[in-house]
Amino acid sequence: MYRTALYFGLIAATCLFAAGFSDPGTPAEAPSLPFTTAQDTFDQSKALALLREEIKGKEKLPAETVFKNIQTLKGVPAGRILAIMEMGYSRSLGVTCTHCHNPEAWDSEEKPAKQITREMAAMAKTINSELLAKIQNLESASPVVNCTTCHRGQVKPATSLD
Ligand code: HEC
Ligand code: HEC
Repeated sequence: MYRTALYFGLIAATCLFAAGFSDPGTPAEAPSLPFTTAQDTFDQSKALALLREEIKGKEKLPAETVFKNIQTLKGVPAGRILAIMEMGYSRSLGVTCTHCHNPEAWDSEEKPAKQITREMAAMAKTINSELLAKIQNLESASPVVNCTTCHRGQVKPATSLD
């Protein structure tokens, strides 16, 4: 009895494993088994420490001259990029770096969330400079929305208070 259950369990696990690779329609974030393990063991503090070490002495240079694939954050000092990644992006969405990156290749575009982030940043910029700036009599002299305003530690911003 037990053996039979174990046997069918193994078959099911094998099918799931195979499906993760063979089905071209599987979204990038689908629960394919090997990646789940990699993300579970991802150490964000260690990754940040390694990157800080890598850019040592170049913190003040423009990000695009230090990193390989900077499109949105051109002109931002390289040292600030890591703070934006940690506080601006990861923390505001309640995720780690692996939501948008393969930590083996930070410049890669393989995760859709990375390009979405560039478009989100552009959206926030438009809201701030073209829409919010025109509203009269607000409390703040220069009011802003940023990632945290909407995301508040969640990947999908809430649309109700339930
Ligand atoms: C919500 C998505 C998101 C998260 C989370 C995120 N990043 Fe990024 N990261 C980006 C985007 C977008 C870029 C490219 C920015 C640009 O085009 O100017 C980028 C670029 C980078 C780069 C430059 C790579 C290169 O060579 O071009 C590094 C390094 C990096 N991120 C590290 C991190 C680290 C470390 C973390 C976790 C602490 C992290 N990122 C979390 C979206 C994210
Ligand atoms: C005006 C509100 C607003 C702001 C500001 C905003 N977002 Fe979003 N974001 C959304 C909404 C709405 C969605 C879509 C959620 C859904 O799928 O229904 C979203 C989706 C995303 C996603 C895709 C979620 C996923 O599955 O990975 C990412 C990544 C993201 N936002 C990153 C950011 C980052 C980084 C910033 C700051 C630069 C930002 N957003 C600013 C409202 C916002």
